[in-house]
Amino acid sequence: MTNHVPIIALDGPSGSGKGVVANFLSTQYEFHLLDSGALYRLVGIAARRTSIALENLPLDEAVLGEIARSLDVAFTSTNNPEDPLEIMLFGEQVGHEVRTDEAGVDASRVASLPAVRDGLFELQRSFRQAPGLVADGRDMGTVVFPEADVKIYLTASAEARAERRYNQLIDKGIGVNLHDLFQSIQARDERDMNRSVSPLAPAEDAFVIDSTDMDIEEVLQNVKAIVTEKLG
Ligand code: C5P
Repeated sequence: MTNHVPIIALDGPSGSGKGVVANFLSTQYEFHLLDSGALYRLVGIAARRTSIALENLPLDEAVLGEIARSLDVAFTSTNNPEDPLEIMLFGEQVGHEVRTDEAGVDASRVASLPAVRDGLFELQRSFRQAPGLVADGRDMGTVVFPEADVKIYLTASAEARAERRYNQLIDKGIGVNLHDLFQSIQARDERDMNRSVSPLAPAEDAFVIDSTDMDIEEVLQNVKAIVTEKLG
């Protein structure tokens, strides 16, 4: 008999609080954590390192797909709940660079290419290891882990998400302007929700939580109730 490795899939738009929820659940259940957004961000960073200008369309899908397929990344758990993963790209620590808003914008550019999504597919699947996985992203419950035991789709208004992201980045010492961030979130939503491959949308069997008027404690309580019911 094979041991079942449970998966909690957490999807939703940028700034919806998925990161905090994912860290909370992986600590609570001692599950592995897949930050799939970081993988798309790393493809963007690796592309920039080879002098690919991601603002110049059309993008070279074959080249970017190959960058995704051959990405040499290592995630190590830190014991810091604020920043739970140390991220290495080709042996170099890139944690700070990965979290910038520019890296997020580049990520959503490369993420619209089917070859990049295919190139990251197996790597993402390989994170499913005992005792379990919390997978954070946009298409975890729909495409990468459709068999997930629990699917949660976390959302909030664009204004609320921009404000949260602003506070997060300021706390990390990354300087940003709230209005620019709001516009960037709207542009990212537009790209993520309207792309032809794996557009951002809740899985049919996902629990949807709109956190616009909730504080983080309330969100965590809701999530905990759902996961406890499903996983015990
Ligand atoms: O979650 P995060 O903000 O790090 O994701 C950055 C970008 O990567 C998203 O805006 C989205 O375009 C892309 N992404 C994706 N599929 C995922 C995770 C992230 O397309 N599973």
